[in-house]
Amino acid sequence: MSPTTPRTTPRPRVLSGMRPTGRLHLGNYMGALYNWVNLQQDYDCYFFIADLHALTTDYADTSELHRNIQDVALDFLAAGLDPGRAVIFKQSEVMHHAQLCTLFSMMTPIPWLERVPSYKDQQAQLTDKDLNTYGFLGYPLLQAADILLYKPDFVPVGADQVAHVELTREVARRFNALYGPRSTAAAAHLAATASDKERLAALEGEARTVQEILPEPKVLLTPSPKLPGLDGRKMSKSYNNTIMLSEPEADLRAKLKTMVTDPARIRRTDPGNPDVCPVFDLHKVFSSQETQQKAAEGCRSAGIGCIECKNWVADAIIERIAPIQARRRDLESRPSVIDDVLANGKDRATKRAQQTLDEVQLAMGLR
Ligand code: TRP
Ligand code: SF4
Repeated sequence: MSPTTPRTTPRPRVLSGMRPTGRLHLGNYMGALYNWVNLQQDYDCYFFIADLHALTTDYADTSELHRNIQDVALDFLAAGLDPGRAVIFKQSEVMHHAQLCTLFSMMTPIPWLERVPSYKDQQAQLTDKDLNTYGFLGYPLLQAADILLYKPDFVPVGADQVAHVELTREVARRFNALYGPRSTAAAAHLAATASDKERLAALEGEARTVQEILPEPKVLLTPSPKLPGLDGRKMSKSYNNTIMLSEPEADLRAKLKTMVTDPARIRRTDPGNPDVCPVFDLHKVFSSQETQQKAAEGCRSAGIGCIECKNWVADAIIERIAPIQARRRDLESRPSVIDDVLANGKDRATKRAQQTLDEVQLAMGLR
């Protein structure tokens, strides 16, 4: 490097994906997207819509898929994912994901996939679907391909995805052991094609640390605050207890009116306990310290009613999501923006993915 070249330390890379299951609710937002937006400050970011993964469970009825993909893309951009700072793309538009998955499938023992906890759990839970399919068994292997194609340092995910990242690491390890830099095929290729300078550089690199073809990424555990739904259970589409990120103000206020509170607080004059009230859990995530204190004291002394308390939390949620909703409306009026962002993301992701696939194909003897 010449002395005039500015030294730019490359930022660590993160990659994550989200299945398009429709518009995001507040639980999806706080549990993932909100963190992704913040990661853009410090990391080289790749974020994608995992539409192939949506098909692993919803292959029988794809009538909503396209709409769901558009909705997630809108929520991504409205929430603040920025194509100037992150590569934002659609999984199925970068065919390398499917290609790498096929190559991995050759060397992945079936029991590795069968023992991933979500495999049996989901089959037991989603009883209305036939999940006895090759694609569903391969869900985590496709995820391994998603990840390893981009060689991220970290994969920001929630606790439910840790087992998938662990499998990804095992796949990388097996790949490296089988086809890694010490394997004869790659060494022979290097000997045949590299210049002396390149060979020397490769040897030096190997002396420092063996540079694996597929580095093992680490989980970056997403802090996810407890976000209850209207019925007090975890907010989830399947419980039908959600508040959407794009929820209109009037609907949001109406929904909150129905939300369960401290069950012991029956009359307005009964003192309540915010520690057992799901509404107060929302305060903890969205309200200022002052409002939280005011609500907790008012609740304990029966100085306020639940209606008032819910109005305060509604105000706080609306303040948080209003700018996101304004951006969403703006994007909805200019549909070509989404198309352009995804087309640009596709190009940038493809370039990165192609490099890895080249290395993989070379290492496996396909070239
Ligand atoms: N399985 C992830 C989920 O359900 C989505 C996903 C697909 C993903 N591919 C990924 C997440 C790669 C991180 C990295 O949330
Ligand atoms: Fe819950 Fe607020 Fe009612 Fe107390 S006043 S029970 S915290 S909704």
